[in-house]
Amino acid sequence: MQSRVMHLEEGKERMNQTKGLPLRLLRLLVMFIALCVVFSIISMYTIKHFGIGSVVTTMSSKLQPHYKELEDGLLEKWIKPPSNLIHNMTDKQLFWRASFAPRIKKYPYKRVPKIAFMFLAKGPLPLAPLWERFLKGHERLYSIYIHSLPSYQAQFPPSSVFYKRQIPSQVSEWGKMNMCDAERRLLANALLDISNERFILLSESCIPLYKFSFIYNYIMKSKYSFMSAFDDHGPYGRGRYDPQMAPVVNITEWRKGSQWFEINRKLAISIVEDTKFYPKFEEYCTPPCYVDEHYFPTMLTILAANALANRSLTWVDWSRGGAHPATFGRTDINEDFLNRVRVGNKCLYNNKNSSVCFLFARKFAPSALEPLVQMDSKVLGF
Ligand SMILES: *[C@@H]1O[C@H](CO)[C@@H](O)[C@H](O)[C@H]1NC(C)=O
Ligand SMILES: *[C@@H]1O[C@H](CO)[C@@H](O)[C@H](O)[C@H]1NC(C)=O
Ligand SMILES: *[C@@H]1O[C@H](CO)[C@@H](O)[C@H](O)[C@H]1NC(C)=O
Ligand SMILES: *[C@@H]1O[C@H](CO)[C@@H](O)[C@H](O)[C@H]1NC(C)=O
Repeated sequence: MQSRVMHLEEGKERMNQTKGLPLRLLRLLVMFIALCVVFSIISMYTIKHFGIGSVVTTMSSKLQPHYKELEDGLLEKWIKPPSNLIHNMTDKQLFWRASFAPRIKKYPYKRVPKIAFMFLAKGPLPLAPLWERFLKGHERLYSIYIHSLPSYQAQFPPSSVFYKRQIPSQVSEWGKMNMCDAERRLLANALLDISNERFILLSESCIPLYKFSFIYNYIMKSKYSFMSAFDDHGPYGRGRYDPQMAPVVNITEWRKGSQWFEINRKLAISIVEDTKFYPKFEEYCTPPCYVDEHYFPTMLTILAANALANRSLTWVDWSRGGAHPATFGRTDINEDFLNRVRVGNKCLYNNKNSSVCFLFARKFAPSALEPLVQMDSKVLGF
């Protein structure tokens, strides 16, 4: 009761106050208008006689770039590749950042898709001059990433396509999980450039077999990603499967394949974001189970079998037997050899028979460089 009365009293008081208001308000308004008129007369006078107009223009020109920055900065921020490949993100932070993907499939600008050439190397790239020749003039269509042993200091001159293309690297050893870590690190760094659409893993002993435009079109027009994956029932295939991986991976899904893959952006993200298969392979695929031959082929077969061509684009010669493929040097390089590698094969390309199955080849010794770069560009293709 008490509080209600108080409210009513307050209301009365306010009503009394408002009675005196219109008159006071009118007085204030008149004063304000008068002030405005005086001010505008003064300012017109000063601008005419003292050129204060320049103050106004400098102020607006200071504002304009700010608006511009906002306007085109917002979209560019997402499109522009990182200006420097060196960063201090941990793998965990990097993979998280790299897993960002747009949900609207159509790009709202003219996107020129690029190929990311990812070199997994121990140290130097002895065949670099051949790659320089291959890439020359196609700067808008590719990017390069190099993962080498952290102790190695690259010495490329600023004119080189490999200059400052080294990513923060860690030790990686053949057949171990840290090799897959290095490959994921390459993919994650390359994913930070939204223009990269296809991702190729190469080694320091790889060479390109065709000119750039042919390779670019072959890859971009392929409906499938070139991850080699096959079900080998022998001791080096299913023999390496550990039943403790079930039910995440069961034996019918177990695949083997070459380490040297080519995948599209979607599959690259699924490799970088993986937390389901990684722990199983880390724990149950240790030598003599060579994890780099099983992890990605098996995982992608489970996640996206229909997106895989199940073959590699990188030719390699296992015909000599043993644990390592043949290495080719100075005396092996000639026109016949290149032609044999280029067209002496059969495969499916977009569900059609093709004799062009390989776009890259390995392994080439540093001594192969000289005969390769001296080869006629009609024979070499570039
Ligand atoms: C990276 O460097 C920045 C400063 O340059 C620092 O604040 C940050 O803590 C560093 N992050 C890591 C993971 O080292
Ligand atoms: C493995 O997968 C196949 C087909 O996907 C299924 O038929 C089979 O029962 C699975 N085996 C186990 C042990 O889960
Ligand atoms: C690749 O193999 C998978 C089975 O592992 C199959 O589903 C897929 O269709 C194959 N891809 C092509 C292009 O034949
Ligand atoms: C591809 O060639 C094989 C013979 O090598 C033939 O049996 C098959 O029908 C051909 N496939 C297509 C799609 O042309």
